[in-house]
Amino acid sequence: MIFEPLELGVLTVRNRILRSSVGGRFDNYDGSGTPVRINWDLRFARSGVGAIISSNAPIHPRGAIVPGYAHIDSDDTIPFWRELGARVHEHGCPYILQLVHAGRERILPFLQWEKGLSSTNEAEPLNGFPAQAMTLAEIQEVVEMFAAAARRAQEASLDGVEVAGANGMLPTQFLSSGINDRRDAYGGPLENRARFGLEIVRAIRKAVGPDYCVGYKISIQERLDELLPWLPKGNTLEESLQMCRWLEEAGADYLHVSAGGGFPHPRNPAGEFPAAQIVKTYDTMLSSGKHTFRNYLTFRTPPFNRAFGWWWTRPLRDREVEGINLGESRAVKQVVSIPVVVTGGFQTASVIARAIERGDCDGVTIARPLVANPDLVRHFEQGLDRAPRPCTYCNKCLFSFVEHPLACYEEARFDSREEMLREALSVYEGVEAPSEAA
Ligand SMILES: Cc1cc2nc3c(=O)[nH]c(=O)nc-3n(C[C@H](O)[C@H](O)[C@H](O)COP(=O)(O)O)c2cc1C
Ligand code: SF4
Repeated sequence: MIFEPLELGVLTVRNRILRSSVGGRFDNYDGSGTPVRINWDLRFARSGVGAIISSNAPIHPRGAIVPGYAHIDSDDTIPFWRELGARVHEHGCPYILQLVHAGRERILPFLQWEKGLSSTNEAEPLNGFPAQAMTLAEIQEVVEMFAAAARRAQEASLDGVEVAGANGMLPTQFLSSGINDRRDAYGGPLENRARFGLEIVRAIRKAVGPDYCVGYKISIQERLDELLPWLPKGNTLEESLQMCRWLEEAGADYLHVSAGGGFPHPRNPAGEFPAAQIVKTYDTMLSSGKHTFRNYLTFRTPPFNRAFGWWWTRPLRDREVEGINLGESRAVKQVVSIPVVVTGGFQTASVIARAIERGDCDGVTIARPLVANPDLVRHFEQGLDRAPRPCTYCNKCLFSFVEHPLACYEEARFDSREEMLREALSVYEGVEAPSEAA
């Protein structure tokens, strides 16, 4: 089952395991791409995943989550993406570009824009990055930016685009009943809150035509209150399912089921809260947002950080990390006829095969277990049910990537600390300095 091809609109993916968006700060501050990102993505293309979904590519610098990710914000970016796509294609692997406008959901804003665009003037609640409610003209501009970015991906011969509509990104800030406080045509009842995301999909479809793969990542359970208990829950299951129906009608070719109305969230990436790691790597975020003192206490000071760690892992007490979103993807599959892929802890062949056979999903996407074991699909091909040293969901990779190269930092998975560090730095191998003649 795992090795059967999957059709996402006109795109055929070679098996049912897609690499989910995951990547480090490998590119330049100005949004230009580097060979380091190409190295990173090639690692997975070589290892047999069905397709790669890129890490988030900002459609405008103001929409970046954090500097250091290659943009798709102007035609000048097309050659870089064309080269990356061609290199990935050499391994028979399709490449889907994830388009992001993060709005207020930021980690480190660029110098130019103190306030993130959003549906609301309320600051993002975890770090306290300020927000500015978008005007109707700004909404239309951003919709057009998504369409232009998709057209660029198509011109770069990439195989499709995915709208980053989950995990607190700008489309979530409109869709969520717990975030959107507007009183115009983009706020209030579900059909108004859904308008922005649906306009994005329709505009992309118009720009790329019918023969191009367009996906949408969506958080079915927002559960804002699981991150910070004083927040509202966010959308109900029924509201999210209705959005899925509308996304299909608007022209989406597949849905990518995730969880959490912000990023990170106890359900995404689900796992531990590595307090000792965060003490070392949470500096820049602390001082960038407005909750510096609260977050210093919460994240940097025992026993508060341990208490937060206890709170963070609460939703996992009665469920496994692997397949944490399968209930939601099953519900989505019952209301749409397009393929549904799902993220969340997958790294066991039998678990994945059973989920597909039961009809809970059509395929899975994997991020951290592939960071830990880039050859996971090869292991499955050889008949192993799991990699010998599986991902522990410790989340040390996540809480390191702002300051260090994205890699697995779970020392227990390596024979030595030196081996772990060698592996972390290997993404830079073979990256040549520009020659003088160039
Ligand atoms: C370091 C890191 C970066 C991530 N970046 C993105 C991203 O750019 N876009 C996105 O939609 N999800 C992002 N995610 C979420 C993953 O794509 C995935 O949905 C999540 O980690 C759960 O899957 P997993 O259990 O296989 O890791 C990121 C996760 C990690 C750990
Ligand atoms: S640091 Fe390694 S083991 Fe821990 S979650 Fe990340 S990839 Fe998995």
